[in-house]
Amino acid sequence: MNPTSHSILIGSLTDPFFPKPSSTSAGNVDDLFYFILAVSAFFFAVIVGAMFLFIFKYRERPGVDAQPSPSHNNLLEVGWSVVPGLFLGVIFYWGFTSYLDMRQPPDNSYEIQVTAKKWSWSFTYPNGHVDNNLHVPIDKPVRLVMSSDDVIHSLYIPSFRLKMDVIPGRYTSTWFEANSVGDFVLFCAEYCGTQHSQMLAKVVVHPSGEFDTWLENAANFMETMTPEQAGETLYQRRGCIQCHSVDGSAKTGPSFLDAYGSLQSMTDGTQIKVDENYLRESILEPQAKVRAGYKPVMPTYQGQLKNEEIAALIAYIKSLSKEASQ
Ligand code: CUA
Repeated sequence: MNPTSHSILIGSLTDPFFPKPSSTSAGNVDDLFYFILAVSAFFFAVIVGAMFLFIFKYRERPGVDAQPSPSHNNLLEVGWSVVPGLFLGVIFYWGFTSYLDMRQPPDNSYEIQVTAKKWSWSFTYPNGHVDNNLHVPIDKPVRLVMSSDDVIHSLYIPSFRLKMDVIPGRYTSTWFEANSVGDFVLFCAEYCGTQHSQMLAKVVVHPSGEFDTWLENAANFMETMTPEQAGETLYQRRGCIQCHSVDGSAKTGPSFLDAYGSLQSMTDGTQIKVDENYLRESILEPQAKVRAGYKPVMPTYQGQLKNEEIAALIAYIKSLSKEASQ
């Protein structure tokens, strides 16, 4: 399912500018935005109104000569410096204190590790579970500790009014507390290559008490599924789905449909039969043998998938091939 359509539609029905505020700090961000918008609109109307009034009132006409403008007026000068200064002070205080709150996670925050890479997100939970979507409990502060495997990305959840760059070679962090149950969209907000616009994830806010059950089941999925089913789950969760279709259409990478057992040309001109070893090597060392017609852009999954997970993915890819069932 494309995660974007649903939340954006709901948001546009309830708020003229933004999706429905769904985190504890979102309301404050919106209030400040609307305050600045109202102040700007008010002074725009006053200043432009006065300008047109004076243009009309003091225009040169028969019997009235154009007057040179007065060179100095203390009251006016002080007035138009101090009044905007006061508004600026209010906006700065409001913005800065909100910013400090948004930078300082509460001590009891639940920590999730975030890894961004071209072009998918992965979220690692304290029990070791890795997921392609961000699942969080409602009404609990969540701290994200983030890093990138390649270029600069940016984690952006409009419904939470949350955005933070994700940078290779160092950690950035941010936090939020979701206060609405439901699905929200997570975007990459830093241009990171051809599939940047597809670098999406879903944020699932679980009702009170249901998050722990979800996490336990999600972490133990391998034990309750056949290898093919587990492979399909990994295919969706670990980002393969972003670049590899299962319906035969070419995306950034080759389709998995009927891939196993087929004879394929590589960029170096050699021909290779797609078997278990080729698939395993392509997951761990994607650049070793690249299919002709495709760019060497896949990131390695070395150290990120366990052996049994690689085996499950291979079992899933085999199940998508006619060759395998013969
Ligand atoms: Cu990642 Cu844009």
